[in-house]
Amino acid sequence: MILVVGGAGYIGSHLVKDLVKKEEVIVLDNLSTGHIEAIDKDALFVQGDLGDPKVLDSIFMHYPIQAVMHFGANSLIGESVINPQKYYLNNVSSTLTLLEAMLKHQVKNFIFSSTAATYGIPKVRLIDESIDTHPINPYGKSKLIIEQILEDYAKAYDFHYVVLRYFNAAGAYETAEIGESHHPETHLIPLVLHHLAGEKDKISIFGADYNTPDGTCIRDYIHVSDLADAHILALEVLMNKSVKTATYNVGNGIGYSVREIVQMCEAITGRTAKVEITERRTGDPACLVASSEKIYKDLGWRAKRNLEQLIESAWTWHLNQKY
Ligand code: UFG
Repeated sequence: MILVVGGAGYIGSHLVKDLVKKEEVIVLDNLSTGHIEAIDKDALFVQGDLGDPKVLDSIFMHYPIQAVMHFGANSLIGESVINPQKYYLNNVSSTLTLLEAMLKHQVKNFIFSSTAATYGIPKVRLIDESIDTHPINPYGKSKLIIEQILEDYAKAYDFHYVVLRYFNAAGAYETAEIGESHHPETHLIPLVLHHLAGEKDKISIFGADYNTPDGTCIRDYIHVSDLADAHILALEVLMNKSVKTATYNVGNGIGYSVREIVQMCEAITGRTAKVEITERRTGDPACLVASSEKIYKDLGWRAKRNLEQLIESAWTWHLNQKY
């Protein structure tokens, strides 16, 4: 049985929907940002906080948990700058409590959701895992702190992990049963689609004076279902013990500018966006694009869905959005 912490959230719920086809799954989520409607009906659900040792003890005592996948974090860069304490308490302190419970109950396999925000402002065009990490905001730092703790735990204890550093997750499940729904929404693709659906009067581009071909920021958008596939492969190699510790980027290797995203959304919806250029947003690197060669070499994972499929799935979800 697999414990998925944060399985009601955007990425966690997509993983759970695929994982229940292979494994028994229990979701722990406090529903602070997740949606109960997003949890697959075939998963058990416990509403509780990952920082609560009593809830964790009760789960680990009652269920034969073989691995933990941890998606239960706060993930807004801007908010982390304004309220770092929230990020260090939820993302660091609560994760330590989860790890403590795992060690106590001898659960040895851990998959950790990390982020491209651990790299800060990289000097290279294509980011691979060997470059230095210099996060520039508390969110990225909170994830890197846990990565470093995992390294130490794996050296000292019988404990194995895979860290997945996500680039820009987007898109929705192929059946459109679940998808992206943040309150408030801050991510580019859902905001552009909200606007094109007539729910928002314009889209702001945060800076058009970056050192990029069209002046807007470049990101590596990865379909949430490709991310889910990467987790399932990571789980397999941890369980069959072919990997003991690993850190992988999970991205497409292709960068798209903010303007290109707006254009692709226009093409897919057949509507025209009203765009305004505003000031840069604090803490935005000009360009973040992953090399995912390491995860391809080790696990055979590559993104299968392109940007068009990603935005089409997000649009279909938007038109059917249930939560
Ligand atoms: N952007 C706009 N206008 C908007 C919203 C976003 O121009 O209304 C721009 C941003 O400035 C950025 C790009 O669109 O250049 C993407 O922004 P998002 O907010 O969608 O995503 P981020 O790149 O800021 O962050 C996301 C996740 C983080 C993760 C990071 C890793 O939210 O948790 O990707 O690359 F760390």
